[in-house]
Order: sequence, then structure tokens, then C-alpha cells
Amino acid sequence: MKVLNLYACLGGNRYKWDEVAQQAGIEIEVTAVELDEEAARLYQERFANDKVIVADAHQYLLDHYKEFDFIWSSPPCPSHSRARYWGFGINGKKPIFADMNLYQEILFLQHHFKGKYVVENVIPYYEPLIPAQKRGRHLYWTNYTLPNVLSTRNNNLREQNTNSESLSHYNKFHDYDFTKYKGKQLILKMARNLVDYEAGRTIFEIALGIVNKKESNQIELF
Ligand SMILES: C[S@@+](CC[C@H](N)C(=O)[O-])C[C@H]1O[C@@H](n2cnc3c(N)ncnc32)[C@H](O)[C@@H]1O
Repeated sequence: MKVLNLYACLGGNRYKWDEVAQQAGIEIEVTAVELDEEAARLYQERFANDKVIVADAHQYLLDHYKEFDFIWSSPPCPSHSRARYWGFGINGKKPIFADMNLYQEILFLQHHFKGKYVVENVIPYYEPLIPAQKRGRHLYWTNYTLPNVLSTRNNNLREQNTNSESLSHYNKFHDYDFTKYKGKQLILKMARNLVDYEAGRTIFEIALGIVNKKESNQIELF
């Protein structure tokens, strides 16, 4: 199964995919696209068997989508996020255009891609232009139904945490030492970028046809 992981960052979403593939008895070949060279280097170190490409993921999707069976895209979220809007947009400090690449990719995948896809982003400060499945603090645009519960892990930080407390929380939560990152982006921003690997696992499990245990466990509980 050929998998395309766009805007790969440090592969939070991808972390458990090998286990899922093994469970399903499927071999996966993952191609990851990331623009930040340092993030791409660390991704390659973390996932030695993946093919890592330093390029613009948006263009890569257009040029290569036909080569893949499953596509995950996580376009940057700041221009859509409520946090940035409340901090810099609404008060006129530094408002920016919402990046329409997000919707271009969703429409493109909806209408041209034959495999299963996932586009993931934060809940925006405006009504989403294309309806999505809301899970936790995220929206997912997919062509298959996601379970109500993607992860039972708790990623909540206390507001009064210092930066180093937050970083150590993210190190544990994502099972990754973010201090390795020596690139241009803020380490904490990088750490916040990653998708919860349990959510990444659940979403991939469903795509591969594995019955979702979290959902059935929940149903059994009631
Ligand atoms: C929200 S993060 C992705 C998180 C990732 N899905 C995970 O779970 O770890 C977005 C990533 O996109 C990268 N990025 C931003 N613009 C890009 C572009 N045009 N092409 C490829 N990568 C880009 C950023 O460097 C960042 O690492």
C-alpha cells in the first residue's frame, strides 16, 4: 500500500502506522513531504524506511496523487486557528488571509483521488467552508467515517505551565525528544504541531479496515 504523508513534520500521525499495517497484514511504503529541512532530517531519522522529500507538499499532491493508495495531509493551521485570530486578528495587530490551500486540497482529493484520504486541521475561527468531521480540537475531512473517539489520551496542558514544563509534557506525550530540533521554527510550536499518535493510529486502522476497539469497548461499557 503506497501512502503519502503530506506536511509530515515529525510524524505524530505516522508513529503507529507500522503496527497497524502489521496487524492488517499489509506492507506499507510511506512517502513523506516536508518543507522544513531540519524537520525532514529528523523525520527521516525517526522513520528510516520512509522516503522523505523536502518540497512544497501542496504542489507535490497535484503532481503525484495518482501514485498513492492513501493520502494524509496536515496543512499548516495558524491562518485558520482561533488562537491566532483572537491573539492577532480580531484586534487588528497582524491579521492574515486564511490560507485557501486547505480547501483546494480537500476539493481536489474529493473530486480526483480514488483512494482514501484524510485532511486534518484545527477547528477554525469561522464556519468551515466545507463540512468536516469534528473530533476533539480538530476537524477531519475524509472520504470514510471516523469513529467518535479517536484517542483516549489526555493532551491537556495546564495554562500556568512554563515553557520547559510544556516541552517536557510534549516530549512524553509524543514519545519524542523535541530538543533535537535545531531548525528555524520554535521548538514548542513544532511540538504542538504533532497529531496525537493514537488518533493517527485509529484513523489509519479504519482506513485499513481494522475494527475500532475503542468504539466497541465504549459501546460495551454502556
Ligand atoms: C501541522 S504540521 C504537521 C503535523 C504532522 N501531521 C504530525 O502529525 O506530526 C505542519 C507541517 O507542515 C510543514 N510545512 C509548512 N508549509 C509546507 C509546505 N508548503 N510544504 C511542505 N511542508 C510544509 C511545517 O514545517 C510543519 O512541519
